[in-house]
Amino acid sequence: MIKIQIPATSANLGAGFDALGLALTYYNYVSMEESDTIDIKSLDNVDVPTDEKNLIYISAKDLFNVCGKNISGLKIRQTNNIPMARGMGSSSACIVAGLVGANELLGNPLTADDLVDLAAQIEGHPDNTAPALLGGIVTAVFDGKKVHWVKQEVYTKLKFVTIVPDFELKTEKARACLPTEVSHKDAVYNLSRAALFSSSLLTGKFENLRTAVHDKLHQPYRMALIPNAREVFDIAYNHGAYAAYISGAGPTIIAIVDEDNKYFSGKMKFSLDNAGLNGWQVNEYHIDNDGTKLI
Ligand code: HSE
Repeated sequence: MIKIQIPATSANLGAGFDALGLALTYYNYVSMEESDTIDIKSLDNVDVPTDEKNLIYISAKDLFNVCGKNISGLKIRQTNNIPMARGMGSSSACIVAGLVGANELLGNPLTADDLVDLAAQIEGHPDNTAPALLGGIVTAVFDGKKVHWVKQEVYTKLKFVTIVPDFELKTEKARACLPTEVSHKDAVYNLSRAALFSSSLLTGKFENLRTAVHDKLHQPYRMALIPNAREVFDIAYNHGAYAAYISGAGPTIIAIVDEDNKYFSGKMKFSLDNAGLNGWQVNEYHIDNDGTKLI
């Protein structure tokens, strides 16, 4: 039985819609072995499909098909720490686990580039799948067939604080609310900030991050689907966050905070509770630079 560790991810990072993402030190675990039947179990109390509709199984089967191999079944055991439909890459973690596990079972016929491409084809965009596979902060352009990517390892004194509400927001719904066209001015607004984000993160110019996470492509529309998001942003900035943005398609909000701001999470939770927002969970993570690995 092989065991795989897959990181949670945070996509978009404000202005880098469908293009930027990073991996977090928060993990799902999947064990996998070949089997004549489909034998899937969740090892926690998270409800997952246990038949051929299971996303780990679907992704593993896709990889077998790409390699011209038949699959009769798989034994899969999954531990689902990353909450579903919260904008932290739970679907990508399943896709990546299926691909990495199947590739390992077949003796690793596909390269890292192949896996990045296949994962983006299954998910539709690369900004969660690529960092889940590679770790670090990933800049990725998907041309429909191939992902052109750069992974950069990040060693900073930043923590990424997830502020997770007690409700789900499905990506389909969070994409359906977006406009089909934007103005030239808004496009420039976003592309300049997306570029500013990675260069500021990597060079330590953290004072730029607040400007860099502003965007006009998705967050203004998604705010309406996340009750109390405005208050959460305000509280995070009041407690000294460098930046706060909607993680992926939401509804989780991530605050980027200096390590020296030791009591940020405690203050955040206290203020949220005081504002009657006690359904929001606050947790601290760092950037995972390794990506998915066998353990
Ligand atoms: N870039 C994607 C979005 C991430 O914002 O819809 C979620 O899969």
